[in-house]
Amino acid sequence: MINETLGIIGGTGWLGGAIAKAVLAKVLLPAGNLVISNRSGSHPLAQRGVCLVTDNQDLVNRSDIVIIAVRPEHFASLNINATGKTIISLMAGITAQAIAGQTSASAVVRAMPNAAVEIEQSFTPWYCFGEIGATTRSLVQRLFECVGTAAEVQQEDFIDYLSALSGTGPAFPALLMTALANQAIVAGIPAEIAHLAAKNVVVNSSQLLVSRDARQIIDNLVAYRGVTAAALQAMTQGHFEEQIGRALQEGAAVARKGLQAR
Ligand SMILES: NC(=O)c1ccc[n+]([C@@H]2O[C@H](COP(=O)([O-])OP(=O)(O)OC[C@H]3O[C@@H](n4cnc5c(N)ncnc54)[C@H](OP(=O)(O)O)[C@@H]3O)[C@@H](O)[C@H]2O)c1
Repeated sequence: MINETLGIIGGTGWLGGAIAKAVLAKVLLPAGNLVISNRSGSHPLAQRGVCLVTDNQDLVNRSDIVIIAVRPEHFASLNINATGKTIISLMAGITAQAIAGQTSASAVVRAMPNAAVEIEQSFTPWYCFGEIGATTRSLVQRLFECVGTAAEVQQEDFIDYLSALSGTGPAFPALLMTALANQAIVAGIPAEIAHLAAKNVVVNSSQLLVSRDARQIIDNLVAYRGVTAAALQAMTQGHFEEQIGRALQEGAAVARKGLQAR
């Protein structure tokens, strides 16, 4: 358990709320050391000993470390002074320099979790800007391990690129699952069966990848020179990997350009 007080601006939202619940569930800190804010001032977490405020400066003053978990378009109106504090931003597309400039924080961590924080299965890359000691670095890692796995990266641009990769969480698998089901239905498979089959491929069979190497699985299945080989060959001839590359670059370009201006 840590002694620091953690503040989460936007701590009742999808990401902020899931992180708040997870740090309590994993006993990273006691409920009394957690301050969350939103504009409406109400949330069930307030009944669990967590301090809920509507004044973000009040939250900053009470906290040693402040997470900003509001949407990027709401950042400009936050109006907080975090002089001498460390801010951890979850916001896509807002640079560490812009955050330090607007808040006067002495250090900024940009972290990019995904929607799977809700089930503690996120991957969270994080990047440090400014002076951050080993104790705070270790705290950041432990914080994001409460909602899955995490790793520090050495370039801020990696956060923008990874926003389009792991930051999208379940989006790519959801697209694949929808495409598999839709195409099966087009081919005449009853909808209920098509959805069961597509879900099994994306959610259940893929669990083999937890313990097995992806390349090895592909090579083993293709070695049969049968149905799977033919299906995967059609995908690669359709430039599947190049399409994935383009998708990631498109997403990363939006993250680099900044979401505030959109
Ligand atoms: N969702 C994702 O998959 C995902 C993935 C990676 C990164 N992110 C980043 O995570 C951040 C949060 O996303 P989200 O999906 O969790 O958004 P969200 O569900 O809309 O949560 C945002 C929260 O911020 C609160 N809020 C808004 N303005 C505020 C203010 N001025 N002061 C205090 N609280 C305020 C809102 O509560 P009230 O309306 O009650 O004020 C809401 O609870 C975004 O910056 C996004 O770029 C999200």
